[in-house]
Amino acid sequence: MSDRQTLASWKKLKQLALDKKSQHMNTLFANDSKRFEKFSIELPNLLLDYSKNLIDCETIDSLIALAEETEVCQWRTKMFAGDKINKTEERAVLHTALRRLNNDEPLIVDGENITEQVQQQLKKMEGFVNKVREGHWLGYSGKRITDIVNIGVGGSNLGPQMVTEALKHYSDGAVNVHYVSNVDGAQIVEVLRPLDPQNVLFIVSSKTFTTTETMTNAKTAMKWLTSASFDEKSVAKHFVAVTAHKENAMNLGIEEQNIFGMWDWVGGRFSLWSAIGLAIALDLGFDKFIELLDGASEMDQHFIHAPLRDNMPTIMALISVWNTTFLGARSQAILPYDQTLHMLSAYLQQAEMESNGKSVTWDGNEVDYATVPSIWGELGINGQHAFYQYLHQSNNVVPADFIGSVESVTPVFGHHETLMANFFAQTQALMAGVNEEQVRADLKAKGRTPDYIDKVAPHKVHKGNRPTNTILLKRIDPKTLGSLIAAYEHKIFVQGIILQICSFDQWGVELGKGLAAEIQQELENNSISAKHDCSTASLMKFYLEAN
Ligand code: F6P
Repeated sequence: MSDRQTLASWKKLKQLALDKKSQHMNTLFANDSKRFEKFSIELPNLLLDYSKNLIDCETIDSLIALAEETEVCQWRTKMFAGDKINKTEERAVLHTALRRLNNDEPLIVDGENITEQVQQQLKKMEGFVNKVREGHWLGYSGKRITDIVNIGVGGSNLGPQMVTEALKHYSDGAVNVHYVSNVDGAQIVEVLRPLDPQNVLFIVSSKTFTTTETMTNAKTAMKWLTSASFDEKSVAKHFVAVTAHKENAMNLGIEEQNIFGMWDWVGGRFSLWSAIGLAIALDLGFDKFIELLDGASEMDQHFIHAPLRDNMPTIMALISVWNTTFLGARSQAILPYDQTLHMLSAYLQQAEMESNGKSVTWDGNEVDYATVPSIWGELGINGQHAFYQYLHQSNNVVPADFIGSVESVTPVFGHHETLMANFFAQTQALMAGVNEEQVRADLKAKGRTPDYIDKVAPHKVHKGNRPTNTILLKRIDPKTLGSLIAAYEHKIFVQGIILQICSFDQWGVELGKGLAAEIQQELENNSISAKHDCSTASLMKFYLEAN
């Protein structure tokens, strides 16, 4: 048995889970009119209501005890101080250092003051962003830049693209931003088709600068540019890079002064606060980028200082551990209602699943408890007409985060009210459900025959008791979005600590990557290695013969 399972709080929670499984949230709400006050946290720009979970005060006390017994606060201190808590890669975890605005205190990593490095980088970004946006950065033919194409994948794509989409409303149109992540040529071809090479600036974003998809797209973009400009030197005017491996970017032909640095202590999926967020800053202006960082910084301060019971990211993590590890949920839905948050679930999918989707502890032992759920989701309002049937009536319970905003940034008469009416209705329906007695009474009141009622009633029953968190943002703006993203980042960190997961490595992506490189060689040489299983070999053969 793992040492986690021997903790007093763990044992208590296991017992509580058995008791709670036979309870219904309707009863918990009927017996306690103060659930909302007890189980919600309000911060200046966002509110978390977690009362619609199968919890009571005893559960929360035990979950807090679990956070204490697993030393969440001590680990938090280590992370912010730059200790190498990414054990398998022997790295510090300091994406928070990227948003320590107005804090000049030195932070030393491997003998270097990274506060200074971050400030220098921000300065370089600011200068570059202003130059491009104000039309002083000119392309090979002397024309200003109108279009930015960010080439990157995973953390070098999802964060910046999600934020660009979320904050569309704040873009002044100084430049148009496009994203290319897929190595399927269909994407880059479509993105480049309407563009004029004279006005395009490419950002090649890759922490390692070895990622095949990104390198392939970058080379294609360079060919596209140089075949129009007839000049290799035009690359200097149209390509910048963001990477922790400058030499790799220079080998690709990118000028040294056009390279923005990154550091080992920033994980790809936590990197949008670094120069990986360059496309965001180009789109919105540097001030708005700083507001985004500021919002994240506010959440950092809250995470550091708020007592665990009032600590939003900690509570989010504890509720997830409760629903997954103790109550047995296997997946979790992320359901934003604002249109501009349409990429949030994809972003959080990488953030949480690449971080904590693991099954050995940091000591390398197999875990003997469920770790994190699979994360999925979509815009809630679209989901209502697609998969909510499953959320309401399937025999799998899927806890869900509902994310909405009080004030619409693009008000159109009546729309936001309809949107939010659905938002509130869904969490109530998922929690309360409707029992057979109510269904029958309702059908009878509608004048239905007894035969019809017998036939249809079982299908109309909603058991309810489906856990949800509600996150209400004041409005979607750079600062609030920064806070929201940082809340999830810290949630993921706390989950990792409690579950003893190395949240900041991603070895699980290496096996497939390596194999793909070998298979690519085989496809190019038209020779299939004997080491493949018969399924893979036959598929490759089919592909080659049909080509
Ligand atoms: O898919 C694995 C991964 O390493 C992610 O962690 C990362 O965000 C992505 O690939 C892109 O990596 P890079 O920025 O080095 O190109």
